[in-house]
Order: sequence, then C-alpha cells, then structure tokens
Amino acid sequence: MRDVIIACDFSSAEEVLAFLDKFSGCERKPFVKIGMELFYGAGPSIVREIKKRGHKIFLDLKLHDIPNTVKKTMKVLSGLDVDMTNVHAAGTIEMMKAALEGLQKPDGTRPLLIAVTQLTSTSEERMQKELLINAGIAETIGHYAANAKEAGLDGVVCSPLEASIVKEACGKEFIAVTPGIRFADAAADDQVRITTPARAREIGSDFIVVGRPITASEDPVAAYNRCVKEFIG
Ligand code: C5P
Repeated sequence: MRDVIIACDFSSAEEVLAFLDKFSGCERKPFVKIGMELFYGAGPSIVREIKKRGHKIFLDLKLHDIPNTVKKTMKVLSGLDVDMTNVHAAGTIEMMKAALEGLQKPDGTRPLLIAVTQLTSTSEERMQKELLINAGIAETIGHYAANAKEAGLDGVVCSPLEASIVKEACGKEFIAVTPGIRFADAAADDQVRITTPARAREIGSDFIVVGRPITASEDPVAAYNRCVKEFIG
C-alpha cells in the first residue's frame, strides 16, 4: 500500500505533461496528485490524459458542501477513474457518507476517500478564535479523524507529525496521507512542520505527498527515486 505521491502543482496541462515525460522511461509510474489549480485551469481532460499514461491519480479538490451536492459531484469524479480523492471532515459525517455513496461505481468499486481534518495552515490560535472551536488542535484532529472513520472513509490527510494521533484515534489500518516532506539536506521552503521520507515511514505514514523536492529538483527522476528508496525501501 505504501507509496510516494508527487504533488504536480503546475498551472497548465503543457507543464505537467512535460514534467511527466521525464518519467516515461521509468519502470515505476509515479502516483500523481492533481490539485485545484491544475484541475480548474486545465479541466477534467488533464485527469484523463494522465490516467491514459498509466499513472494513479489523487484528485485533491477538498470538497465541502451540502451532502446532496457533494454526492453528485463525487459521482462525476468517480467517472474520471481517479484512485483517491478527498473532502473536508468539517462538512459533517452525513456529508462524508454522501461523498462515499457518490463515489461508488456500478461494479461496487470506488476510489479511496480521504478527509482533511484541520489544514496545516490553520494554527490552534486561529482555530479557537475565528472558528470558535474550543478544544486543542490535536484533540480536534483526532476527533475529526474519528468522524471520518465513522462515516466509512479510508483515512485522512495530515502532517506527518500528526499521523500518530490519527492512528491512535482510528487504528493503524486507517490511512495517513502526509505532505510536509523534505530531504534531510534540503530547504524547508514555506513548510513548517516537516519530516524526511524515512522518518515519515517510521511514524506510520501510508502515502507521502511530495511536491517541490521533486518538481523543483534539477533531476526530478533521481529525487523521486530517492523518495521511493527512503520511504518504501
Ligand atoms: O512542494 P511541497 O512538497 O510543499 O507540496 C506539498 C503539497 O501538499 C502541496 O500540493 C500542498 O498544497 C499539499 N498540502 C500541504 N499541506 C496540507 C495539505 C496539502 O502541503 N495540509
């Protein structure tokens, strides 16, 4: 199950396809994350194109709306044959259940569904002052993860340093997808709570999401292979 997901944070289809061309000779096809920027800019056809090239896709659109709208949208996304997608746990257990129903294909299969608990950009102070959530951030993350599990979801996106909170609340089979990954000898960029691929593995991450350490590298294939070696072995 463990895998390295490359965050393809490019703004156009041309850029992402040129980037993926570099991996055409590789035995291992990278799992690719497509976020809002690329999806809204390039449209669903970019998902089909990358899928056609044999990559698995995590479609990171973080849905959060009324249950009926989320269900119908998930039906559309499921038709794109993605492998993983996500919602905000803040949308409630009812919304997460509706998302799962929408994802279900006629043959009974569906993509993995992951919840965002609290964004890593949200500090405890802002969460308490602006969102009026009185609990601490760790407790909130554990509680939202438990809600996602109760709704039947497969796991959550969290900082690698929060993976243990999630595994404690939901069991070790519950998937932790973790961004905030940096090599030990590299810059942190704008990420604050970071760890290395090897440490993420020790902490219990199931999937690491790695962007700039691969996409901005002079040799993206070597950087990807290094992630795979450190995280999967
Ligand atoms: O370039 P970098 O490795 O920092 O990219 C991390 C990716 O993971 C980006 O696409 C970012 O939006 C995403 N992400 C994150 N922190 C979260 C959720 C998603 O960094 N909490």
